[in-house]
Amino acid sequence: MKNIKKTKTKNKKSKVVDILPESIRPKNIDQFMGQKKIKGKLEIFIKAAKKRKESLDHLLLYGPPGLGKTTLAHLIASELGVNIRVTSGPAIERSGDLASILTNLKDGDILFIDEVHRLNKVVEEALYPAMEDYCLDIILGKGPSARTVRLELPKFSIVAATTRIGLLSSPLRDRFGAIYRLNFYNPKDLAQILKRSAKILKIPIEEDSCQQLAKRSRGTPRIANRLLKRIRDFAQIKGEGKINEGLLDNALKVLEIDSLGLAKEDRDFLKALCLDYAGGPVGLETLSATIAEDIGTVEEVIEPFLIQKGFLKRTKQGRMASRKSFKHLNIPIPKGKQSTLF
Ligand SMILES: Nc1ncnc2c1ncn2[C@@H]1O[C@H](COP(=O)(O)OP(=O)(O)OP(=O)(O)O)[C@@H](O)[C@H]1O
Ligand SMILES: [Mg+2]
Repeated sequence: MKNIKKTKTKNKKSKVVDILPESIRPKNIDQFMGQKKIKGKLEIFIKAAKKRKESLDHLLLYGPPGLGKTTLAHLIASELGVNIRVTSGPAIERSGDLASILTNLKDGDILFIDEVHRLNKVVEEALYPAMEDYCLDIILGKGPSARTVRLELPKFSIVAATTRIGLLSSPLRDRFGAIYRLNFYNPKDLAQILKRSAKILKIPIEEDSCQQLAKRSRGTPRIANRLLKRIRDFAQIKGEGKINEGLLDNALKVLEIDSLGLAKEDRDFLKALCLDYAGGPVGLETLSATIAEDIGTVEEVIEPFLIQKGFLKRTKQGRMASRKSFKHLNIPIPKGKQSTLF
């Protein structure tokens, strides 16, 4: 199975090699930096399944966007030497779609379901027996002549990913044998990722600049790589084809990334909270409307990093800014708020 997959990839690569640069997505588990705890647990999880010659237990990966959930799913399949079929919650519209996906899998294969929180209820319920007993109950026909047929399924494994675990129903969550949360990366791990990416992108980067960029990448590999590509543009057009401190500072200024790695959207969010609502507490809906941003984006993308960095707190009364937010934005703390802010 592994060999067939490898040959296919090789052919594909040789066709597109002239127009597409080499991908910076890690190709094996050693190239996947950081997340040591998860990697350690996964290694045992994978080895045990291999040793027992069983399919992997269903696995749920969750955490903010760009931290490596999709990458990990592919790496798990390649470690196991099995095929991976990729789909997403909203793409499986009816239980018929699910039946056709599942019956086309082979024993041991991985079905990767991205955005699993967006599965509709009917499909989700059809998935329960599939995950637990590897069977699917299909209703044929309508009205009094309708009958149920039980389909036997191969022993597949689901690797699911979500940025919003809170939206998953508990029956679905409980059917996963392992649930791992991906955390933001520390600057040291991000610097390793950047070094590897810079090599693949053929852009020389000085050690100090690499460390500095890692600190300003919002703890997120996808953002680190994206910034690296944009700064490479600057280096090649405005600089001397390499990234050094001066060039990095200028480029990050133009890209509106501040000294702590906050982007304009982050600052707009905090500014609204600190200036318009005196640091809160204020409800998520009100705050999102103030900055004309979608609630989901605020909750999934903007807030997690700000919370982790101590700029923001979610309380029962609403969102609250910290003293650190006021200080970072250079906004004086309103009178009477001195004692209530954290
Ligand atoms: N641990 C890592 N080491 C090296 N590169 C990584 C790592 N994690 C992520 N990346 C890089 O970051 C990019 C984004 O990762 P990925 O697409 O797996 O994130 P995700 O968690 O699935 O995000 P989303 O929730 O938006 O789907 C990848 O293309 C990869 O290049
Ligand atoms: Mg993904």
